[in-house]
Amino acid sequence: MVKYFDVQAIRKLFPAVEKLVYLDSGFQTPLSRPVKEALETFIREGYETAGPKSIWIDRMEATRAKVARLLNAAPQEIAFTKNTSESMNIAANALPLKPGDNVLMVHGDHPNNTYAFLNLKRKGIETRFVPMTEVIDADSFRPRIDANTKAISMSHVTFHAGHRFDIYGVGDLCKERNLYYVLDIMQAVGVVPIDAKRTGACFIGSGTHKGLLVPQGLGFLYWNRELTELEPAYLAAISLATPPSDFIARPDDMAPAPTAGRFEIGNFNLPAIHALGAALDLIESIGVENIQNHCFDLGDRLIAGLDQLGIALVGPRHRENRAPHIYVAALPAAEWIDFLTEKGVRVSPERDGIRISLGMFNTASDVDRFLDAVRQRLSAARSNKAA
Ligand SMILES: Cc1ncc(COP(=O)(O)O)c(C=O)c1O
Repeated sequence: MVKYFDVQAIRKLFPAVEKLVYLDSGFQTPLSRPVKEALETFIREGYETAGPKSIWIDRMEATRAKVARLLNAAPQEIAFTKNTSESMNIAANALPLKPGDNVLMVHGDHPNNTYAFLNLKRKGIETRFVPMTEVIDADSFRPRIDANTKAISMSHVTFHAGHRFDIYGVGDLCKERNLYYVLDIMQAVGVVPIDAKRTGACFIGSGTHKGLLVPQGLGFLYWNRELTELEPAYLAAISLATPPSDFIARPDDMAPAPTAGRFEIGNFNLPAIHALGAALDLIESIGVENIQNHCFDLGDRLIAGLDQLGIALVGPRHRENRAPHIYVAALPAAEWIDFLTEKGVRVSPERDGIRISLGMFNTASDVDRFLDAVRQRLSAARSNKAA
C-alpha cells in the first residue's frame, strides 16, 4: 500500500477503531481525541467560568473560515445549520420558484434532500426524477430539461451504493441552461475534494457527522454570495444586514445580511462548531486528497477480495464514478449483519447488501479482517452443504 500519510498515528487518535474493525464511516464517525478535547474545553469553560461568549464566537468564526477553505469558498459564503436536511430545506425555499416550475432530481437519492424539494408541491412546484444509473452526469439531465425547469438538485456521493455523480459536468449544464444548482455533499465531504466555485452551485449543504468527524447535530450551507436574489424563508435578528441594536424588531429594516449569515437563525451549536474546528485542523494536516487516495487504494483491495470470493459489488466499480470510501457487497444484510457484529466488524445494512465504508483511520488489515470473516463463513456453509 502507498503511504499517503501516517495512518498508524491517525489510528491512535480514534480509540474505537483499535477495538473494532470500524467500516461504518458512512453511518457516523467514531470520535477522535482532538474532537473530544474541543468538546471538553467547551464544557470546562462553561462549567467553571460561564463561558467567555465572545471567545466562543471568535472560535466559531475561525471554524467558518476553515469550512470555507475546505470548499474553496469565502467565509462569508458559509452558514452554520443543524444538518443536511435543514440546509436543503433552506436552499429549496430560497429559490425564486413559481407554480408550474419544476426541479430535477435523481430517483432514490437520499430522502433528506429529496423531501425538501418534494415539499415545494405545496407551492405548485413539481419535482421530477431521472432514473438512478451507475453514471449520473449532464447527459442524464439534459433530455429532461423543459421550459419550466428551474433547478437541479442531487447528492455528490450516494449513501446506498457509493456512486460519485459528476457534480462539475452537471454544474456546467446548469450554467448553460441558466438553472439553479443545489448539492448535498454529506457523504463526500472530508473524503472527496470539493471546489464549490467550480461546481457553479448556488447552494451546497451537508451535515458534519461523517467525513467531518463531529457528533450529530451540526451542518453547514454554502451560498454563492453573488446570487443576492436568494433570500431566506426564515428570519431572526442574526439574519439581518443590521440587527436592531436595541433589540426591538422593526418592520421597516429587514434587509437580509449580505453574507450567508442571512440563512442563520438564533444561537449556534457552539460546542459542535468548536469540535468541527478541531476536526478540520486534523483533516487539513492530512489533506483531503490524501484521504481520498488512501480510501481508493483500500477500496481496490476490497473489490479484489470480493471478486475472489465471487461476491458482487453493488454500484460503480471504476474510480471515475465510484466514491473512494463507500462500497456495498451483495450479501443479504439480514443474514450477515449479526454475524459480522459478533466478529467485531461494524458495517451497515443497505438496500442491496451490506455497506462497507472507509475513513482516514482504516488500514489494509481492517479490509482483510472483514474479507476473512466473510470467507470463513462462506467456506463453513459450503462444508455443511457438502456433508
Ligand atoms: C446523501 C445524504 N444526505 C443527507 C444525509 C443525512 O441527513 P441529515 O444530515 O439531515 O441527518 C445522509 C446520511 O445520513 C446522506 O447520506
